[in-house]
Formats: sequence, structure tokens, C-alpha cells
Amino acid sequence: MPIRRITKHGERVLKTPCPPLDYAAFKNELPALLKDMWATMAAARGVGLAAPQIGLSLRIAVIDVKPEGKPRRIVLINPEILSLEGELNDEEGCLSLPGVYAKLRRHARARVRALDENGVSREVSGEGLLARALQHETDHLDGKLYIDRLSFEDRLKALDAIKDAKPSWD
Ligand code: NI
Repeated sequence: MPIRRITKHGERVLKTPCPPLDYAAFKNELPALLKDMWATMAAARGVGLAAPQIGLSLRIAVIDVKPEGKPRRIVLINPEILSLEGELNDEEGCLSLPGVYAKLRRHARARVRALDENGVSREVSGEGLLARALQHETDHLDGKLYIDRLSFEDRLKALDAIKDAKPSWD
């Protein structure tokens, strides 16, 4: 089943920090899982997807923000943020909160170290949308949604928007 159901705000798995992944123990299952994650992300027209969003508490996320319109697939296993710089206040959304958007201040540049799909440790740097995605997906693996980072007032607005959007969620 390549396209998986995406978990939504309110489901426990999204609030649960994922334990570090034992790459050696998991590597045989990884190709099939990543295939499903890419397919699920593409079908939902997302730019990133973390394993808890398909109901799995695994420290794995995928990102493709398509710089210059071309695919650039990034797999993050056990990502660790090395540095964050600058500020960028931009609109953010999440496949687990369909129809809900809010302006959120994030760092404008991010550098992350993670294992790739072959178990090789790599550094990924990005700015703008990629920096935002690196922060957003790492948050998912720590059991955090972007609305958790909003100010009290903006979170109340987001919760109202969630109430309106929820009836159309699966
Ligand atoms: Ni998300």
C-alpha cells in the first residue's frame, strides 16, 4: 500500500517524540517505507513528511522543496540540528493540519546532520523554505507541531481554524 493515511492533529503519535532509529536493525524495511513516504507526500502535495505523520514513531523524515522546480529528495534519519541562524517570518502549514496556516517566525538558515537512506552521515544546509522544512520535520520527530510554536494569541486563532477545518479531515 504505497499511499498511507496521514495522521491529523489530535492523534497521539504526533505528540510522541520518536526514539533514535537503529539503522542497522531497520535498513531492510527502509526502502519500502521510504517509497511509501515519498508517494504519500507527493499525493498530498507536501514538501516534507515525517514518519509519525503516517502513524509510525520512527525518527525518519523526507523533504523535497524542489529548488528551481527540480526534485531534490532529502532523507533525514536521526537528524540533529547543528546550527540555526537568522529569522524569517513566513506562512507555515502541515499535512497533519489540512486547511490551517499561520505565520510563524523560524530561523532563515539551518544546518542539520542526519543519516541518509544508505546509513551515511551527511550534513544538509538550507535557507528559506528548505531551512523551514528542516526545522518543521525535525520538530515532528520531537513530537511537536508548528502550532505549538505560535504565540498564545496566534495559537488560539489556529485552534479556531482547526475547529472549522476538522469536519473535512479523514
Ligand atoms: Ni508537518
